[in-house]
Amino acid sequence: MEKTEKIAQFSEILRKAKKIAVLSGAGMSTESGIPDFRSSNGLYSYTSEEVFDLGNFLRKPESFYEIIAPLYDSIMKSEPNAGHLALHELEEKYGKSVVVATQNIDGLHQKAGSRIVHELHGGMLSLTCQKCGGQVPASALDAQLRSGKVVRHEPTCMGVMKPDIVFYGEMLPQDALMSSYKAMTQADLVLVLGTSLAVYPAAGLPTERSRDAELVIINRTATPLDGEATLVFHESIGEILPAAVKGI
Ligand SMILES: NC(=O)c1ccc[n+]([C@@H]2O[C@H](COP(=O)([O-])OP(=O)(O)OC[C@H]3O[C@@H](n4cnc5c(N)ncnc54)[C@H](O)[C@@H]3O)[C@@H](O)[C@H]2O)c1
Ligand SMILES: [Zn+2]
Repeated sequence: MEKTEKIAQFSEILRKAKKIAVLSGAGMSTESGIPDFRSSNGLYSYTSEEVFDLGNFLRKPESFYEIIAPLYDSIMKSEPNAGHLALHELEEKYGKSVVVATQNIDGLHQKAGSRIVHELHGGMLSLTCQKCGGQVPASALDAQLRSGKVVRHEPTCMGVMKPDIVFYGEMLPQDALMSSYKAMTQADLVLVLGTSLAVYPAAGLPTERSRDAELVIINRTATPLDGEATLVFHESIGEILPAAVKGI
């Protein structure tokens, strides 16, 4: 099928949809200048499993902070891209119910104005002290986060601070996960955007959709659910999604 025809079909699916549940991953934000971990031009040569492993963090927080400094910097500099804005337009201009379940820690869906965003892997915008449990906004630790050195709870207990991101080996926030499950079961359209669907339990969310729900995937590389989808675009979210929304 030709691309324009496929986009027109996508527009038609969007037009009919009333309740949309979205699962987004790092690919949603690459066009905002935040690298993902899996693409060849991703952040260094690390995988997210290595960087966000709780054991690695507790053993060697200095390695974590060295790697995370450029990611933190790109998150701080970033703005929502055309894909984030198109999702917001679906609720704002077209009156759709849109629930976003995101694996991203960058806060860009919220910045774009999306009303309901469940952060399955937490967020980068606050940190918690591993010694006393004190929580501090990232903005108060900005210089330390940029330095690439271990961030400590200064000047009080000097405990190591850990960003409020869900690490491998930690539980996902259960309320965010349950609300996302519910949105997937109730949706008449599920959108999978910029995720390789490799990390569970988030990757399992789209399989909770109802039998009659449409599934549309936009991801540059193949995903395990491609065979089940109504439409699959192995292309850029920033190109395809706004074009489809425009055609509603
Ligand atoms: N922006 C962020 O907040 C951010 C960035 C990197 C990593 N992380 C964390 O690490 C975890 C896993 O990261 P990951 O990189 O392995 O993510 P992932 O497994 O979700 O993979 C990203 C996918 O997006 C695709 N992609 C990249 N740019 C795209 C674009 N413009 N349009 C369409 N598809 C595109 C890639 O082909 C890849 O398959 C995340 O779930 C998150 O917790 C978050
Ligand atoms: Zn402390």
